[in-house]
Amino acid sequence: MKHTKVKDLLNSTKTLHEVNAKGWVRTFRNNQFIALNDGSTINNIQCVVDFENTPEETLKRITTGAAISVTGELVESKGAGQKYEIQVSKLEILGDSDAEKFPMQPKKHSLEFLRENAHLRVRTNAFGAIMRVRSVLAHAVHTYFQEKGFVYVNTPIITGSDAEGAGEMFKVTALPFDNTPRTEDGKVNYKEDFFGKETNLTVSGQLEGETFAMALGQIYTFGPTFRAENSNTSRHLAEFWMIEPEVAFNDLDDNMDLAEDFIQYVIKYTMDKCQDDLKFLEGRLLEEEKSKPQADRSEMALLEKLNFVLENNFKRVSYTEAIDILRESTPNKKKKFNYIINEWGADLQSEHERYLVEKHFKCPVILFDYPANIKAFYMRLNEDGKTVRAMDILFPGIGEIVGGSQREERYDVLVEKMKALGIDEEELWWYLDTRRFGSAVHSGFGLGFERLVLFVTGMSNIRDVIPFPRTPQNAEF
Ligand code: 4AD
Ligand code: MG
Repeated sequence: MKHTKVKDLLNSTKTLHEVNAKGWVRTFRNNQFIALNDGSTINNIQCVVDFENTPEETLKRITTGAAISVTGELVESKGAGQKYEIQVSKLEILGDSDAEKFPMQPKKHSLEFLRENAHLRVRTNAFGAIMRVRSVLAHAVHTYFQEKGFVYVNTPIITGSDAEGAGEMFKVTALPFDNTPRTEDGKVNYKEDFFGKETNLTVSGQLEGETFAMALGQIYTFGPTFRAENSNTSRHLAEFWMIEPEVAFNDLDDNMDLAEDFIQYVIKYTMDKCQDDLKFLEGRLLEEEKSKPQADRSEMALLEKLNFVLENNFKRVSYTEAIDILRESTPNKKKKFNYIINEWGADLQSEHERYLVEKHFKCPVILFDYPANIKAFYMRLNEDGKTVRAMDILFPGIGEIVGGSQREERYDVLVEKMKALGIDEEELWWYLDTRRFGSAVHSGFGLGFERLVLFVTGMSNIRDVIPFPRTPQNAEF
């Protein structure tokens, strides 16, 4: 007999004579009631064991974490909390779980403890919910772009270029560490390496993505990216997933429209498909916030916050306006910021971004037209000669969730910029070709997938929204 998913059993519209379910025991009480979960839903199905006719030996093996198979009748439940339950006629232990040793006890565990057990934490309610939401969000991303006719492009993971020009890359090499081949002047001789040149893990698929946009019109990437920045924060991962759309003939305003529409779509899609999980996560967040001082608690519950993003336009503010607001702000005047904003040109720290979003505007904000010298080389220079057509989207509780720009499509201006920044033209010959042959206005952005999952799940540490986080000093599993 084929087993039926717990989700389908709970959604059944009628009682059923004989069903089979397989899953893992969450709890077993009174030697009679098993709460069984198979990951298809946050909800467990109650399985009622006929303990008088079940051998003592078997009953002892029904422990938290054990994998079991139950067969029986799906009947209306007499107990509160569920519509249906299984009256078990046959029970099989598929895999024992030593109750004393199984780390996921039916009690509250700290998030730190769960991180150390990332291979088992997914068996808890919270992590099951987070990972299902993550999966549905990923589907929403593809659905959005596919329905709009974007082409999904798989840009390379191993690259020879530094897309962001920030130099925070993991090297990829097959050279030995001892006896490393050297050139005459003592440098590592990458000509003898696997690819015959220096390579690294990609920090962004943008540059390759641009070449495809200049042929296919609208493209998007969705893949892993890597940054060797030593940022031990609740917002940074060394390996994270990024979504990067790139659109020919879009200017910065079109780019902002796309980003806003896209974010609202994927949130709405997920709210429709993950009601039980989001309701659970909302409760979890409320519970967690009880231990915080009033001032640190969020003003809105999770679903209310998500609805707020759907119903309100993102506030579009230029960098110059933002600097004026920050300069006049109370924390700046009272020197509460770690970095005091004195003049135009200052790079914004996350404390400033959070002030703008959480205290000043109280809604998602799109900052645009940043000073050229704090942004990447490929951004389009404005007529003022000092700002570029960059945009960052800032979210409450998250900070930067999107970074993007209109690209510099003018060959001469781009080359001059690269020269000024010491970026090797020969390395990027293929990128410059897009500006040589049929160049056109185009724009794109990158959305950090985990930051989106953070926002939607209401979690506060990015390590808790990716299955196996990679952070400085940590690559377990
Ligand atoms: O702002 P970033 O660096 O932009 C780019 O990489 C551009 N090439 C994107 C483009 O225009 N196609 O990164 C984009 C987003 C950030 O806004 C943030 O959400 C996320 O990627 N991000 C990270 N997420 C987790 N951990 C990190 N270390 C991240 N660094 C960036
Ligand atoms: Mg950025």
